Amino acid sequence: MNDFKKELDFLGKIVEQELAKLLPPKDEYPPKLHEAIHYSTFAGGKRLRPIMVMKAAELFGMPYEKVIPTACGIEMIHTYSLIHDDLPVMDDDDFRRGKPTCHKVYGEAVALLAGDALLTHAFAAISKNSKIEGICPNAVLDVIEKVSNAAGTYGMIGGQTVDISSSGKAIDQDTIFYISLHKTAALISVSLWSGARLAGASAKDLETIKRFGENIGLVFQIVDDILDEKGDEKSLGKPIGSDAKNMKSTFFKVYGYAGCLDLIDKLSSEAKELISNYKNNNFFIQLTDFIVNRSY
Ligand code: IPE
Ligand code: IPE
Ligand code: MG
Ligand code: MG
Ligand code: MG
Repeated sequence: MNDFKKELDFLGKIVEQELAKLLPPKDEYPPKLHEAIHYSTFAGGKRLRPIMVMKAAELFGMPYEKVIPTACGIEMIHTYSLIHDDLPVMDDDDFRRGKPTCHKVYGEAVALLAGDALLTHAFAAISKNSKIEGICPNAVLDVIEKVSNAAGTYGMIGGQTVDISSSGKAIDQDTIFYISLHKTAALISVSLWSGARLAGASAKDLETIKRFGENIGLVFQIVDDILDEKGDEKSLGKPIGSDAKNMKSTFFKVYGYAGCLDLIDKLSSEAKELISNYKNNNFFIQLTDFIVNRSY
């Protein structure tokens, strides 16, 4: 394992420990609900979004320990989005994070409710960040506003809606960019923004980090679309061919494989350029490469 992977592993474990403290225990009443929440939350997962919150705080001089509640809140939102994304009424997928999907184990109603609970609980977790010494409560309020926007109509839900309504249709380049920027890049970008905001970054730096996040977020989804065609189910931990099954309009469909590789090149170079002036940017350069080259 190289140092970057070791760091992902180390921070990912911290996120898991803290998630366990922030979520209701597995045996809390009603048990099926909390079992389902734990099942999906602790099924694995790269924990990239919470790690982005933590490393962005560090980039602007704040120890990552101070932003853990926000990091965990964003991972709760992400996990909820996966549970709902897999439901029969959405992508209808049977595997996630290497295990049967939440609805396959607990039924659709409990899976729906487990997702709802994670989304709601996320904001309780983020709010707790205001109680940590050295954190400005106004910054937490800004984070709550931005994360709400990134998760809702102006972000992930907007993107998911157009993703679903574009199924079976030929869509143009602007529409595939809208879908991915909203369903995927918005949450990635706001993860970085939130860490930076809590650390007291300037308006200019916040804008830069937001744009960096949008670029790597788009790359993340382009690679996801390629992996759905060409990936290995075992290492991915989720089915390949899901997009074709659902006649999804993806980057792969709109741009073709070669077109996707060109886009990845362009967007990842722009991302690296955006953060080139920050010292200690090494993690973010490696993160960009990891997202470009990922196979899981
Ligand atoms: C999968 O995200 C959903 C997309 C936005 C494409 P990840 O690949 O980060 O999923 P986990 O958290 O590692 O399972
Ligand atoms: C969904 O995109 C992104 C979310 C908001 C969950 P996909 O539908 O392509 O994600 P996967 O491939 O199921 O992880
Ligand atoms: Mg989907
Ligand atoms: Mg899906
Ligand atoms: Mg996908």
